[in-house]
Amino acid sequence: MPDRRNLKDHLIHPAFSQIGKISDQEGTETYVVGGFVRDVLLGRKREVYDIDIVTVGSGIDLATKVAASLRPGLKVSVFKNFGTAMFRFNDIDFEFVGARRESYRHESRKPIVEDGTLEDDQKRRDFTINALAICLNSDRFGELLDPFDGVGDLANKLIKTPLEPEITFSDDPLRMLRAIRFATQLNFIIEEKTLTAIQTQSNRLGIVSKERITDEINKIMLTPTPSIGFKLLEKTGLLAIILPEVQKLKGRETRNGIGHKDNFYHTLEVLDRISKNTDNLWLRWAALLHDVAKPVTKRFDERLGWTFHAHNFIGEKMLPSIFDRLKLPLNEKLKYVQKMVSLHMRPIVLSEEEVTDSAVRRLLFDAGDDIDDLMTLCEADITSKNPEKVSRFLSNFQLVREKLKDIEEKDALRNFQPPITGEIIMETFSLQPGREIGILKSAIKEAILEGEIHNNYEDAYQFMLTKGKELGLAAKA
Ligand code: CTP
Repeated sequence: MPDRRNLKDHLIHPAFSQIGKISDQEGTETYVVGGFVRDVLLGRKREVYDIDIVTVGSGIDLATKVAASLRPGLKVSVFKNFGTAMFRFNDIDFEFVGARRESYRHESRKPIVEDGTLEDDQKRRDFTINALAICLNSDRFGELLDPFDGVGDLANKLIKTPLEPEITFSDDPLRMLRAIRFATQLNFIIEEKTLTAIQTQSNRLGIVSKERITDEINKIMLTPTPSIGFKLLEKTGLLAIILPEVQKLKGRETRNGIGHKDNFYHTLEVLDRISKNTDNLWLRWAALLHDVAKPVTKRFDERLGWTFHAHNFIGEKMLPSIFDRLKLPLNEKLKYVQKMVSLHMRPIVLSEEEVTDSAVRRLLFDAGDDIDDLMTLCEADITSKNPEKVSRFLSNFQLVREKLKDIEEKDALRNFQPPITGEIIMETFSLQPGREIGILKSAIKEAILEGEIHNNYEDAYQFMLTKGKELGLAAKA
């Protein structure tokens, strides 16, 4: 049960008492609202980066006066159109807004926004647990105002809108996604009426900018159990709008009595498993998308059963358009996720066979610095319910890891640079640019990967001379 007795003990930041003092002088009521209050009541320990202040008056005036009193010259950013202002003090962003209410005129369906009371402001917020306010004025410092029983919903772990959900969501459809994000972050349940409203209004997410949507998805991705969010996204219809490719992973088919696993639930299991071992957002994205091409590559073969041939490579090719659509970065982050998706089956295939040095060397060559992340993904990908299979895979992986360590020490293959360059080859055999150079370079690389020679200049040079001779090339005297 959240503790609401000693709220003033949580207002130790010097800005709070100062805001209260200036507010007293101005004759206005001022409150701290939103996430800060929610997290205090939840006892949620985390770094505070922003604090929302609402005043029954002008947010811009109050912010300006408080900033000047805290530190002369403290910069205030003013957003006149929104009637908001903010400043940063001791590494925290304080955002000020005047309490508002919306009203409808007969002649127009478009709401007009007017000055309002604290309660008018609270009812326009997204969820009851985010509509809690603590007074900062000196005589009521620390007093909690909770007209929608947000404290009860915190205790019952409920995400619920203060007004009819249709109204709250039509104010800002992103809130449908925020409901799921908070449910995932806090491990709360979305109240039934609120959940139904998301289901019926899901298509309204279309009017929200991709950046805001992706921001919420990333927050879901970074929770300890992201599957909670993705199951809700699927259930409400939002997943089909945001990530139809992941939605299509859902379902299982049976033919000739042979079924395949539901790749959506498998993917979520992999995502949860990897989240226990890494906070790397992009490795988590790789887990979400590792099987994304399974639906498009799925075939039924009388002899082999279900196959998903080359789904890793097709998946790699699908990623740029997904990243572009979601406004995810199209730089080395995309390349990294592509690499993970394209290589995600390699260690598994490797450990199904005899783990040879040469196969491990090739894996190291292809994965480079990201080899450990790849192994983390592959270990998360083992979701088999057959304990014998799981322990065989894991012990083979252990062998792969050990060999990786050995080979890395010997050959420094992680960031492979060919020991013999094209220039050296041309110089040695007095060649002009041409196909022989490519042939020799790849023969050297193959010899290193096969373990025939070590990854150093002397070995590679001797090998080049022998190979050149075989090709009928004469080395300069
Ligand atoms: N808010 C809202 N509707 C939105 C966004 C925000 O009503 N679409 C209100 C909520 O009262 C919310 C507050 O603005 O608590 C601050 O929003 P934000 O900083 O985005 O979220 P927090 O609740 O502070 O949570 P977190 O910091 O975890 O994102």
